Amino acid sequence: MSDSFKNPYRPGAGHTPPHLAGREKEVHEFDKLLEQEEILENMVLTGLRGVGKTVLLEKFKPRAIEAGWLWVGADLSESASVTETNLATRLITDLSVVTSSMTFEVTGAMPIGLRPETNTTEVALSFLTLTGIYQSAPGLVADKIKAVLEFVWGIMQQGGRRHIVFAYDEAQNLSDHASRDEYPLSVLLDVFQSIQRKGIPFMLVLTGLPTLFPKLVESRTYAERMFRVVMLHGLDEDESREAILKPIEVADCPVSFDDLSVSTIGEKSGGYPYFIQFICREVFDVFIQQVADGANPGVPVDAIQLKLDTDFFAGRWSKVTDRQRQLMWVAAHLDRPNDEFTIQELVAEGEARLSKAFSSSHTNQMLGNLSEQGLIYKNRFGRYSFAVPLLGSFILRAFEPPPESLRSK
Ligand SMILES: Nc1ncnc2c1ncn2[C@@H]1O[C@H](COP(=O)(O)OP(=O)(O)OP(=O)(O)O)[C@@H](O)[C@H]1O
Ligand SMILES: [Mg+2]
Repeated sequence: MSDSFKNPYRPGAGHTPPHLAGREKEVHEFDKLLEQEEILENMVLTGLRGVGKTVLLEKFKPRAIEAGWLWVGADLSESASVTETNLATRLITDLSVVTSSMTFEVTGAMPIGLRPETNTTEVALSFLTLTGIYQSAPGLVADKIKAVLEFVWGIMQQGGRRHIVFAYDEAQNLSDHASRDEYPLSVLLDVFQSIQRKGIPFMLVLTGLPTLFPKLVESRTYAERMFRVVMLHGLDEDESREAILKPIEVADCPVSFDDLSVSTIGEKSGGYPYFIQFICREVFDVFIQQVADGANPGVPVDAIQLKLDTDFFAGRWSKVTDRQRQLMWVAAHLDRPNDEFTIQELVAEGEARLSKAFSSSHTNQMLGNLSEQGLIYKNRFGRYSFAVPLLGSFILRAFEPPPESLRSK
C-alpha cells in the first residue's frame, strides 16, 4: 500500500476537482459562443451554491484562449459594485493585464491624457495609459469606459483581430443603488450592449447564484435578449459515479469504493459536486483507516451526515430567527423539499401545520429577508426555492418546531 497517495478529493469553493465530471453540454454551449464574429449573445452561468460554477468558468478559460480569444476577469466583490467608478477601475485593471504588452506609436502631439512612459513615442496600453484615456474622455462613467474599450479595440485591430472574454464570477454582487445615485450594474450592461452593437467583439460571461439573471433583467429589460442563460444542476447518476471513482482509479491508490459505497455517496450527495467532494474526502480517510485495521470498508453514513450538518448547514441555520425557521420547516414539508414552491402553497401548508400560521404578506416579507441572507431565492416567475442544495432535507432531519407552535391534530 502506498503511503504517499494523498486524499485526492477537494471540497472547497473554486478548488479544481481531481476529475471534472459531466458538463459536456455546457462546454459545448460556450464553444458555440466563441464562434461569434459579432457578439449577439453573452453568457450567464448560474446555479446553486457549490454546484460547480467557478470551476467550470476555469475550464472555459483555456478553451477561449485556444480559440484565439483573450481572457480577462475577476471575482466581482461587493466593493466593485458600490460605485460606478469602482466598476470602471475593476474593468480597466483587468483589461490592462492583457493589453499592457500591446503598444502603439504616437506621432505628432500626444493625445490628451497620454504620457509616454519613456522618451520614445511607443506607448504601452498599460493601466496608466488606460486610466489616462478614461479620465480625459468626456461624458458619464459609461461613456468613459466605452472610450477606453473602443480605443483598445482600435489598437488590437492593427495587430491582427482578436476577441476578448470578460469573465466575472460572483456577479450576483452587482447591484444598482438608487438611493446613492450609483448604477454600476446598468453601466456594465449599457457599455457592453453599446460596444457590441458597434461590432466590437468583447463578450461578457457572468457567473453567479440564481438571483443573477433576474437582477440583470430587472436593471435592463434588454438583458433578456443579451444573454444565453446556462443553468448548472447537480450531476446525474453516471456523472456522479465518475466524479466519485475517477480520482481513485489510478495506480497505487490504496482504497477503492464498491458499488454499494458509490450508490450511497451518490444518494447522500444528491449529485451536488460540493457534497460529492466532501463526502468522498471523508470516506477516503475512513477507508484508509479501516483497511489499515484489517476491517471491511463500509461508508459510515451517519457520521458523515453529521459532519456535513455541522460543517456546512449548521452555520447557515444558526443565523435564522425562530419564526424564519418555522417558515422554512413548513417549506421543507411541501412534497418536494428540494424544489420550487409558491407563497400560496407555503401559506396553505403553514395553516395545516402551525398553530400560528403565516399570512401571505408576512410570508412574502420573510422570504425577502431570507433571500437577502442567501437561503432562499425567487426566480423570474415568482416561484421560490432553497438557495442552498439539500437544505430542505437538512431541515427535516435536524429541526422540529417547539410543540406549542404546532397545530393540534
Ligand atoms: N463537474 C464536477 N465534478 C466533480 N467535482 C466538481 C465538479 N464541479 C465542481 N466540483 C467540486 O465542487 C466544489 C464546488 O465547486 P465550485 O466552487 O466551482 O462551485 P460554485 O458553484 O462556484 O459555488 P459557489 O456558489 O459557492 O461559488 C469544488 O470542491 C469542486 O472541486
Ligand atoms: Mg463559485
